[in-house]
Amino acid sequence: MSESTEARPSSRVLPHELPASLREAGLDNWIREPLDDAVDRRRRIIVPPAAAMAGTSLNAYKGDLLAEARHPDTVFMMGDNPALPTMPERPVVKDFFLLRFGPIARRHLLQSARVARENGLGEKVITACLLHDIAIAGLLSANHGYWGAQMVAPYVDEEVRWAIEKHEALRYFPDESVGYTYPEAYIDYFGPDYSPPDYIRREHEAARRHRWYMTSRLITINDIYSFDPDVVVDFDEFEDVVGRNFRQPDEGLGFDGSPVAHMWRTMIWPNNFL
Ligand SMILES: [Fe+2]
Ligand SMILES: [Fe+2]
Repeated sequence: MSESTEARPSSRVLPHELPASLREAGLDNWIREPLDDAVDRRRRIIVPPAAAMAGTSLNAYKGDLLAEARHPDTVFMMGDNPALPTMPERPVVKDFFLLRFGPIARRHLLQSARVARENGLGEKVITACLLHDIAIAGLLSANHGYWGAQMVAPYVDEEVRWAIEKHEALRYFPDESVGYTYPEAYIDYFGPDYSPPDYIRREHEAARRHRWYMTSRLITINDIYSFDPDVVVDFDEFEDVVGRNFRQPDEGLGFDGSPVAHMWRTMIWPNNFL
């Protein structure tokens, strides 16, 4: 038997027992055992990103999790995770909606866009509503307005990008002239005594004076009525609006070499070790 044959992963599943510390911490959830859909029968370790681990008990076990990769037939997750649907080679926005975004966020975005359309708003606002929380849906929740705005910047009108960025701050502040009040949901989410930090206050004040203020404000107005679990909205309803308002790159999102391509790739392969 040659060395190169020996170095290959074995074709059987090793009966390796996880250390008790990892089992007790529930970290077996982060280790994918070889299943029928695995191409090479190796165990794959998923190490959650620092942003997900910091401040949680997961952080204490990171060393143990990393050590697991030293076992035979065990590697860190890179490339397609068989637990996720495979993305096409040249993904478009719709692919992220259907294959990567979770059902709650997908429904929220589609319902928000539908309410905007039913309210007779223009395509820029409908597009902004459709995309306003894509960071929460597929990447990161903290600072989601800013992440989301960057993700779409190369592909949409600057007004749409701006509106998505600012909606995060505007959500915290009522504007009675257009019937927008502080969201009931935020009282539940953050408690009745929550007060937004100064940078959010400054963002809100500057946005109020901006010529595109109402575009962003309209996102917040159409945001609050769109969490109904019984309303099903098909992405195809917005295929035409997306076609006219989102410059889909020929190479596919994630592969066009744009300054934000890595963000889309992170959603394609969210479990990559590096
Ligand atoms: Fe939002
Ligand atoms: Fe939202």
